[in-house]
Amino acid sequence: MGVRRAVGQRLEGTIGKQRTDRLRRAERTVRRRLSPPPPPKRPSLTDLAKVHKTDKWGLHRYTPHYEERLKHLRDKEFTLLEIGIGGFKKERSGGKSLRMWRDYFPRATIVGLDIIDKSYVASERIEVYTGSQTDPELLQRIADEHPDLKVVVDDGSHVPEHVRTTFAVLFPLLPPGGIYAIEDTQTSYWPDWGGQVDPKARGTSMDLVKDLVDGLNYEEFLLEGYEPTYTDRTVRAVHCWHNLVIIEKGQNAEGSNRDRVHDRPYRV
Ligand SMILES: C[S@@+](CC[C@H](N)C(=O)[O-])C[C@H]1O[C@@H](n2cnc3c(N)ncnc32)[C@H](O)[C@@H]1O
Repeated sequence: MGVRRAVGQRLEGTIGKQRTDRLRRAERTVRRRLSPPPPPKRPSLTDLAKVHKTDKWGLHRYTPHYEERLKHLRDKEFTLLEIGIGGFKKERSGGKSLRMWRDYFPRATIVGLDIIDKSYVASERIEVYTGSQTDPELLQRIADEHPDLKVVVDDGSHVPEHVRTTFAVLFPLLPPGGIYAIEDTQTSYWPDWGGQVDPKARGTSMDLVKDLVDGLNYEEFLLEGYEPTYTDRTVRAVHCWHNLVIIEKGQNAEGSNRDRVHDRPYRV
């Protein structure tokens, strides 16, 4: 091949490649312009806590844990009940966390219960009840009026005795898949709040939680004739973080290898 022909071929190749590159770039631009824009990023629960200024993020670090356990419900229709509406320091304030939940769950009904009348917090998709978290009839009425109740958040008095009473009434009213949260469990260790200095003392909120954790393994107990309790059978998981506990409702019956490993004499 002559030198001129070889140079000519190489030149043609280069020009061809430049044309193809230009064409590809143009195609990409057209495709980008024609395709719909990506959906806007949805705010996280922590973003919304900041917007509504609830201390579930900041003073506390609850929102990432809540989001981890609740994100599967984001677009579902259900009722979330929060005990404790807040705003006791300033007249006609409160409802910060209720507004956070409302914006995170666009199809949910958000119900707040407070011992102080906070009815002015009620707005679209936010309902308010006035009364005590220790009033079983009121709790039952709220559940009756919201048959799709699925999530309970106890951020009320934080008095362990109250926390236990509320749990005893409301947990059985949740369906399988229901979620029950208890905030500020540090009061378990504070006598001024009805707790006890001994971390292992009976009767506190954390004592209730520790019993639930044992109950997760009730099928392994060697106690002869042990009758499983309601929560043994219906608590599926207990998630504990600093001052926050989230309990998942669901069947707890995975079976055990207890009888293959232990002979009867081991039973007590
Ligand atoms: C920590 S504030 C709630 C804050 C709110 N959940 C938030 O995150 O923005 C506690 C609230 O519980 C209410 N409370 C105290 N004792 C109660 C009781 N026995 N029953 C219902 N609410 C109670 C108080 O009036 C107060 O508004």
